[in-house]
Amino acid sequence: MENNFTEQMAQDRAMVEDCLAKAFAGEPRHADLQEAMEYSLLAGGKRIRPVLTLETCRMCGGDPETALPFACAMEMVHTYSLIHDDLPAMDNDDLRRGRPTNHVVYGEATAVLAGDALLTAAFGQLTKAQLPADRIVKAVECLSRAAGSVGMVGGQALDMAGEGRALNREELELLQSLKTGALISAAAELGCIAAGGTDGQRAKVRTYAQALGRAFQVRDDMLDIISDQTELGKPVGSDQANEKSTFVTALGLESCAALVNQLTSQGIEALNGFEAPEFHIWLAQTLAKRTK
Ligand code: IPE
Ligand code: IPE
Ligand code: MG
Ligand code: MG
Ligand code: MG
Repeated sequence: MENNFTEQMAQDRAMVEDCLAKAFAGEPRHADLQEAMEYSLLAGGKRIRPVLTLETCRMCGGDPETALPFACAMEMVHTYSLIHDDLPAMDNDDLRRGRPTNHVVYGEATAVLAGDALLTAAFGQLTKAQLPADRIVKAVECLSRAAGSVGMVGGQALDMAGEGRALNREELELLQSLKTGALISAAAELGCIAAGGTDGQRAKVRTYAQALGRAFQVRDDMLDIISDQTELGKPVGSDQANEKSTFVTALGLESCAALVNQLTSQGIEALNGFEAPEFHIWLAQTLAKRTK
């Protein structure tokens, strides 16, 4: 079973890689902008969000291929968020996805612009889906909320404002549900939207993905301490260097591990009622143990 899902994920990733590699082909190239965009976009990465979009489309009764443009849009927004997150003005990190960060290679101005252009291109991707117009409108609404000031960017603002200060559990939960949970939830919801899922299905998918997103960020906080740079493809110890409050500083490593397991079970419970939730169960369990 384990192998089947690993294989299924590899197939989804291959579809996404192919689509991303073609996304800007044939377009005019200006200075080193497109090169910088593709440098980060095509640098690997686990592709959790686009896989979640494709598989949630399947789980809600749709054909995953119809959701591919939505999946690629998710990865573009995510990659932009990483390029900006690594900037000197934010986390000031010099390694990402096993490569020097975008601003290290192309300079800060180009890194800012590459992020801007990826964010903008994501909304263009949504419109490329061969789906009824009302589903595309819903997808735009969902992604714009999740990416913006009431979603990921809002969370990043709280993250920056919290540097050097001990945040309490409630503050941390809000920060992490926005900076990471919002996009992970949108990734799953876009799959449900592509499938033409019901409001009931979408609500379950959201509950699952929000728990998954929270577990994912708690695990990310742990990996910043317990993993190593070669495995992670990004620096360890970045949070401490930036005086960030994380779940590790608030709870300690052991309680974090328990929290990841608790959130994973919570997410899985929300899948009750779906005919074939097996991939999503496997994904949640696999991410809870991830080492990168
Ligand atoms: C890193 O996300 C940023 C967080 C939200 C923790 P991922 O761990 O999904 O990074 P990639 O896409 O695999 O590089
Ligand atoms: C960033 O969180 C989440 C984003 C919105 C990019 P982190 O700052 O913890 O992500 P990493 O550890 O640099 O990947
Ligand atoms: Mg950060
Ligand atoms: Mg960071
Ligand atoms: Mg981190």
